[in-house]
Order: sequence, then C-alpha cells, then structure tokens
Amino acid sequence: MYSEKVIEHFQHPRNVGEIEKADGRGKVGNPICGDIMKLYIKVGENEKGEKIIEDIKFKTLGCAAAIASSSMLTELVKGKTFTEALKISKNDITGSLGGLPTIKLHCSVLATEALNEAIYDYLSKNKLSIPEEVQKKHERIQEELKKAEKQYKEFIRVQEKFLEGK
Ligand code: FES
Repeated sequence: MYSEKVIEHFQHPRNVGEIEKADGRGKVGNPICGDIMKLYIKVGENEKGEKIIEDIKFKTLGCAAAIASSSMLTELVKGKTFTEALKISKNDITGSLGGLPTIKLHCSVLATEALNEAIYDYLSKNKLSIPEEVQKKHERIQEELKKAEKQYKEFIRVQEKFLEGK
C-alpha cells in the first residue's frame, strides 16, 4: 500500500502553511478528484545572481498521497534555482517517497503543477521572461483548474473556505 516514507511525510508534512507576502502563488485543482492545492514561494538569489526558491509552503485538503508528495517536493526544491526546481518531476517525487500506488499517481502531480504556477506568477508579476514550457504548462493547468471548478464547484468552494481559515 503506502511506503513508510509516504506515511511519515503524511503524518509529519514539511512546510505546511502560507507565506505572508509570498513572491509567487500557485493554485491548482485535480480534475480527477476535485482536490485543490495552494503553494507559496519566497524568491531569493544565489551567489551567481540566479533566482532561487528561498522558502516554500503549501496548503491542501488532498489525500495522503498529495500531502506526502507536496511535503517531499518542498524538501527537494528549497534552495534550488527555478531551472533546477522545474526539472523535478512527479517520478522524482514518487521515487523519493519509495513509490505510490498506481491509483494515487495523479495525486503526486498537484505539487509539481502548483510549483509551476507559483513560478509563473512570480515571473509574470515581475515582467520577467517566461520559458515556453512554463507558459504551456500554465495554460494546461488553468484549463484543468477550470474543469475541476466546473465539475466540483461546491466541493471546491468548501475547500477554499477551509484553506483560508474562514
Ligand atoms: Fe485527490 Fe489524491 S485523491 S489528491
């Protein structure tokens, strides 16, 4: 079923919460189950002057697999440049977690997609050049979010309220 690593990250997820005055914010919805995730990044620079993910936090009411995957992603990307962080795939995450049951693989996508959206948000707000791959992924993710919002309208509204602490 779930590996020990998945259980451990689910029970003690890293970097849960919200960054006040985040530099970039991402929101994604899973069209398969209707779960949503919000992710926040604080951007810094390394000694070469490259943008890095200085801090990262996430919030979700997704399942154990989504929570463990997001927790692992935050650990893998902290301190990385945008280019390095965007290269981290769902396979890297599931590999680091010791695998996920096949029916739960769609849950591991939320974290990488939310990261794409937070980086997209940062780049577009700061009028910086957006890599084509990030742009294309952003368009697809927004389509999927719209689909999820249409199909799971009430469910998503309740999740939003909960995540905003209302
Ligand atoms: Fe929705 Fe896992 S079932 S994220």
